[in-house]
Amino acid sequence: MRNADYMRRCFDLAKKGFRYTGQNPIVGAILVYENRIIGEGYHEAYGGPHAEVNCFQNVRTKDEMLIHKAKLYVSLEPCSFHGKTPACSTLIIKKKPVAVVVGCLDPNPKVSGKGIEALRQNNIPVQLGILEEEAKSLIKKFKINHFQKRPLIALKWAQSKYRYAGLRDQSIWFTNQYSRVKAHQLRGQFESIMIGVNSVILDNPKLDNRLGIGPSPQKIIIDPRARVPIDSQMLSYGENTIVISKVQAKTTDSSRCKWIQISDDSWNWNTIFRRIFQEGITSVLVEGGPTLQTTIIKEGLWDEAHVLSSKHPLQHGIRAPKVEGRRLDHVTLADDEYLSYRQRIGLVFYEVSKPHPTCIDYVLVIIFWQTSTCCATDQRYSLRLHCFASARIRQHLGFEHRKRCDYE
Ligand SMILES: NC(=O)c1ccc[n+]([C@@H]2O[C@H](COP(=O)([O-])OP(=O)(O)OC[C@H]3O[C@@H](n4cnc5c(N)ncnc54)[C@H](OP(=O)(O)O)[C@@H]3O)[C@@H](O)[C@H]2O)c1
Ligand SMILES: [Zn+2]
Repeated sequence: MRNADYMRRCFDLAKKGFRYTGQNPIVGAILVYENRIIGEGYHEAYGGPHAEVNCFQNVRTKDEMLIHKAKLYVSLEPCSFHGKTPACSTLIIKKKPVAVVVGCLDPNPKVSGKGIEALRQNNIPVQLGILEEEAKSLIKKFKINHFQKRPLIALKWAQSKYRYAGLRDQSIWFTNQYSRVKAHQLRGQFESIMIGVNSVILDNPKLDNRLGIGPSPQKIIIDPRARVPIDSQMLSYGENTIVISKVQAKTTDSSRCKWIQISDDSWNWNTIFRRIFQEGITSVLVEGGPTLQTTIIKEGLWDEAHVLSSKHPLQHGIRAPKVEGRRLDHVTLADDEYLSYRQRIGLVFYEVSKPHPTCIDYVLVIIFWQTSTCCATDQRYSLRLHCFASARIRQHLGFEHRKRCDYE
């Protein structure tokens, strides 16, 4: 097998941790000796052992003497600092595999490159950049959490053949049982699930994960004027639900409901998602309705979209949202279709030298996936232009000045 095949195995292992690693990146690692995987592991839970530690620990006793002859594959650069757990680079240096193959560097400027440097200084050869683009996109949630201080935001909706998502006064069901399982599988992958108050009133959903693998997500209702019915299933059934509102709490059973008030002045999607992140929530699946999703799309605040498209003939009512994104997946589910998209824009911050004491010293550069062109220059005119874009977009998205951190 080739390096790339082994790295793909690391990616598959890493993905198992998606729902549980919180703000940490998902990482997978394997040890290979003479084309045989003798150990594998992944970062299973926030605060728990890292992928490399689990990988070494999972080597069978009879294979332990092969570790120093084996190659270690890891999807992300091994850490070089003592955080909640000891540094993985120290452990690797102790175990001394013949070589280490790394998917991509840690994007955190404080640690980036240091893990690899430590290995090389201890005479362990390192090969960097195997399936680098895939390795980078694997840690997308980590980068969004770490650099933007907000959760990863995914939209999910079902639509009719003519791209309608519902009626104003009546609940309607579009999709088949396979789509329903797919929808529940998605719920199992996200820490939280968000819905607008109109959808609560009309559909009265439970919003749990009854058919997919994994736990049910934390439920969140966006309800600016406190219209949510106290006896709705989301407030009276199952676990705690968060209600985000502009006004004071309705009298609810406080053990079932956490009421978060955001003033009218600071009410915008950026504040709402940052507030959710402060609750320790690192991913949100926005299930509707279309009003909620359309306003999020307008603000450019979505990262993924998951669309279940049916043959239902509805051709009036509320229009389904529309995204312009890079298509990730397209699966046929009997007479339904599942499509997923990723936001096309990547944002990169560059530090530039200050041409004038009053000039802002960071520029925001926008890279479009399609063209991969970079519109940054250090000429005075461009600099001003991009600073303007930077300020405007930062205002929307709540970015802060940073040194060369990139986000995919
Ligand atoms: N096809 C699907 O996948 C799907 C999924 C869910 C729901 N639906 C359908 O969609 C329909 C309901 O959708 P909807 O678009 O009318 O309502 P919705 O998105 O569920 O809720 C809209 C309400 O949420 C509040 N809200 C949303 N965005 C806001 C923002 N940016 N700022 C302030 N408040 C905001 C407002 O409440 P206030 O008016 O109180 O200010 C607004 O009226 C139903 O027919 C439902 O069955 C379809
Ligand atoms: Zn580590």
